[in-house]
Amino acid sequence: MLASMFTTDAPLLVTGATGTVGREVLRAALAAGHAVRALVPDPDGALDRLASVLPDGARHRAERRLQAARWDFLDRRALGDAVAGGTRLFLLRPPAIADVDGAIAPAIDAALDAGVRHVAFLSIQGAERNRLVPHRAIEDHLRGCAARDPRVTWHFVRAAFFMQNLLTAHGDELRRESTLHIPAGDGRTAFVDAVDLGDAIVRLLAEPVPTSAAHECTGREALDYDEVVAILSRALGRPIWYDAMGLVRFYRRRRAMGEPRALVGVMCALYTATRLGLADRCTPDLERLLGRAPRTLAEFARDNAAAFAPASPA
Ligand SMILES: NC(=O)c1ccc[n+]([C@@H]2O[C@H](COP(=O)([O-])OP(=O)(O)OC[C@H]3O[C@@H](n4cnc5c(N)ncnc54)[C@H](OP(=O)(O)O)[C@@H]3O)[C@@H](O)[C@H]2O)c1
Repeated sequence: MLASMFTTDAPLLVTGATGTVGREVLRAALAAGHAVRALVPDPDGALDRLASVLPDGARHRAERRLQAARWDFLDRRALGDAVAGGTRLFLLRPPAIADVDGAIAPAIDAALDAGVRHVAFLSIQGAERNRLVPHRAIEDHLRGCAARDPRVTWHFVRAAFFMQNLLTAHGDELRRESTLHIPAGDGRTAFVDAVDLGDAIVRLLAEPVPTSAAHECTGREALDYDEVVAILSRALGRPIWYDAMGLVRFYRRRRAMGEPRALVGVMCALYTATRLGLADRCTPDLERLLGRAPRTLAEFARDNAAAFAPASPA
């Protein structure tokens, strides 16, 4: 796909803007010259956080290229006001919300009623083959909306497992023990970097003539966790170990860490799928969207070395 030069003063609307992918969507959109509006439950707090972590965030905020509005999937008052003036929406399902009919679909409808026309939805690799994941129901809802109203178009960004999970879900164990405790056996994962997803999503949102299409966005290499720790060891300059633990021990360990049952259940399902060889498919879609090769795990580890650094003793 050709890089688009399409920008307007209408803001790109970004749900989940303080999260792993949403923040990268904001970064990429601002870098490409778009105005953005973060749609978040706490707009003032989010704007402060985002202005300090995004490149030139404070300046973009002062120039009102970076705005925020209240958007809560669980409290749909004023969702229409939040999107007013924008037509292009990045949609994310927060991990804690599984109720598509009661929360996500009505929010999509409110956005479309208020003038949104083009939606890029962060889905999950394999959603087209899996009726159990909420992403599939959200895709089906968006397809239905577009079938009823030809002005509505969608992109489904079916993402592989994020590299950032190594920091969010496993950062503590890496900083404290230099060990990854994961029940994935010798299964391989086609890790994708959220930085690439942000770049690709902005290109899709900025299409001059929006179309509808699904994209299976993976990295370019499928790695097993022995390879992952070898790459991390080289990039971080210290040995990192892989503890290929069993599922029961993993479940007990994460529950003892205080993580909710539902979250640990989802992690068990994901790592079981990995162990069974269901997370290893690499596709050319992301490279086609980006016009460059997707980032490697080695690049990710090198760029985030400080966040992986061992916690210094108190
Ligand atoms: N992790 C993976 O490997 C992977 C792979 C493929 C697809 N996915 C999918 O990606 C999505 C998660 O993306 P992510 O990791 O970027 O998210 P994330 O980092 O967990 O961030 C979640 C975002 O949702 C916002 N949010 C939470 N509750 C909300 C509510 N009630 N109303 C409005 N916004 C709310 C949060 O705002 P606050 O900051 O205010 O809480 C935050 O901005 C999930 O659907 C997941 O299934 C994940």
